[in-house]
Amino acid sequence: MPVMNLLLFGPPGVGKGTQGERFSSATGISHLAMGDILRAAVRDETGAGKQARVYMDAGKLVPDALVVSMIEDHLVEGANAGFLLDGFPRNVAQAKALEIMLAHHDLTLDKIVFMDAPESHLIKRLSGRLICRACGFGFHRHYSPPRETGRCDRCGGELYQREDDREDVIVHRLRVYNEQTEPLLAYYRDKAGFVRLDASGEMQAVYTALKEAVEG
Ligand code: AP5
Repeated sequence: MPVMNLLLFGPPGVGKGTQGERFSSATGISHLAMGDILRAAVRDETGAGKQARVYMDAGKLVPDALVVSMIEDHLVEGANAGFLLDGFPRNVAQAKALEIMLAHHDLTLDKIVFMDAPESHLIKRLSGRLICRACGFGFHRHYSPPRETGRCDRCGGELYQREDDREDVIVHRLRVYNEQTEPLLAYYRDKAGFVRLDASGEMQAVYTALKEAVEG
């Protein structure tokens, strides 16, 4: 596959991380997940991580200036292999900042994929999500359970539930999405490379549709 730069966006729990990770493992392109970058900063207790944590735990967006400054280096590093952006941009101001960044580094987006699923699916997916504390691999209590309860199939690490996957925070994240991120749909809908993907099906079906959308 030629080097490609992709953008995945859509509501919390729609499967951006799951599909992004899988696509990146299969193709070798860099998976740039803003949430993962922020969680690593929180874990390492960097200055940015300390600032971001309060917002993340409450299900609010981290201030634009902070996320914009964090993503640029990753974007430039990822550009050789191609990249798949997941979770950035998350509002129109960030989308404009991304455009400036891309132009500055002579980069373009080949596909802009909007993933969509009904809210009832999103809530079930988020409230059952489990993540490995050691390697970060994701599971779901019902849809992709680990072989051994509480242990990662890949590395044996302990599985935990994200602080922001508590039901009250999920409700808040969905509201933030509707108010701040959903307007990105109007922003990107008419741009070259835009594709809308029905992500309500099971994981393999969504992956097949994503591959077709990107390769088509
Ligand atoms: P982030 O980590 O990006 O969270 P999110 O966008 O809310 O997305 P999620 O990771 O919750 O969902 P996903 O779509 O990746 O779903 P997943 O594949 O895991 O961001 C977290 C926080 O960081 C934000 O709230 C904010 O505070 C901050 N932040 C991040 N970016 C920011 C930005 N640009 N600006 C400001 N702040 C920012 O799937 C979910 C579950 O469902 C998994 O268990 C999975 O196994 C399961 N699943 C996936 N697909 C399917 C399927 N087809 N069928 C059944 N189950 C499925």
